[in-house]
Amino acid sequence: MGRIKITIIVAVSENGVIGRDGDMPWRLSTDLKRFRALSMGKPLVMGRKTFESVGSKPLPGRPHVIVSRSHSFDMPGVETVGSLGAALERATALAEQSGVDEVCVVGGGEIYRQAIDLADVLHVTHVETVVDGDTTFPPVDPGIFECIAETRIPAGEKDNYPTRYAIYRRRDA
Ligand SMILES: NC(=O)c1ccc[n+]([C@@H]2O[C@H](COP(=O)([O-])OP(=O)(O)OC[C@H]3O[C@@H](n4cnc5c(N)ncnc54)[C@H](OP(=O)(O)O)[C@@H]3O)[C@@H](O)[C@H]2O)c1
Repeated sequence: MGRIKITIIVAVSENGVIGRDGDMPWRLSTDLKRFRALSMGKPLVMGRKTFESVGSKPLPGRPHVIVSRSHSFDMPGVETVGSLGAALERATALAEQSGVDEVCVVGGGEIYRQAIDLADVLHVTHVETVVDGDTTFPPVDPGIFECIAETRIPAGEKDNYPTRYAIYRRRDA
């Protein structure tokens, strides 16, 4: 198999917000369903705070590699490592073992900021609103990432806002 891709999956408001008070500042059921389908079977890399924000329980069907500087952080059903590099290495090994071609970096802000320089692909749900928050995602640099697909998604019954789902690929990838 070829090289394992590093893929970032994120939902971000027009003003760059991804989180508020340890949670997401919206309810987007349609997007969560796509997240589930996109990440199913693939190793997930996430920061300790994001893991706590989803209830400190692994999402079904996906091996979890949690990044934490705390040696005591050890939760059932996940592996914890001490750096992003170690997390990507471990997740890549898990992807190879299970025959999938990518690992998914799924937040939060601190982890995205470090991982974006390493990412091959970004799946960005642009949430069409301006909201207050305390956690952000950096603007996607069009000189570095090329948008290769974009879909407008009207707000469904269980969605707070309409979204624009875009896939970006690193230009030199
Ligand atoms: N909209 C979205 O798509 C989306 C997706 C995911 C999360 N979020 C939101 O983002 C927020 C959480 O993001 P956050 O930035 O506060 O936290 P985070 O990135 O989830 O986790 C930060 C923690 O990760 C660990 N960490 C980070 N870099 C590390 C490194 N290089 N080496 C070792 N450990 C490292 C540290 O854990 P220790 O403190 O244990 O050392 C740090 O406190 C929440 O509001 C969540 O809802 C939004």
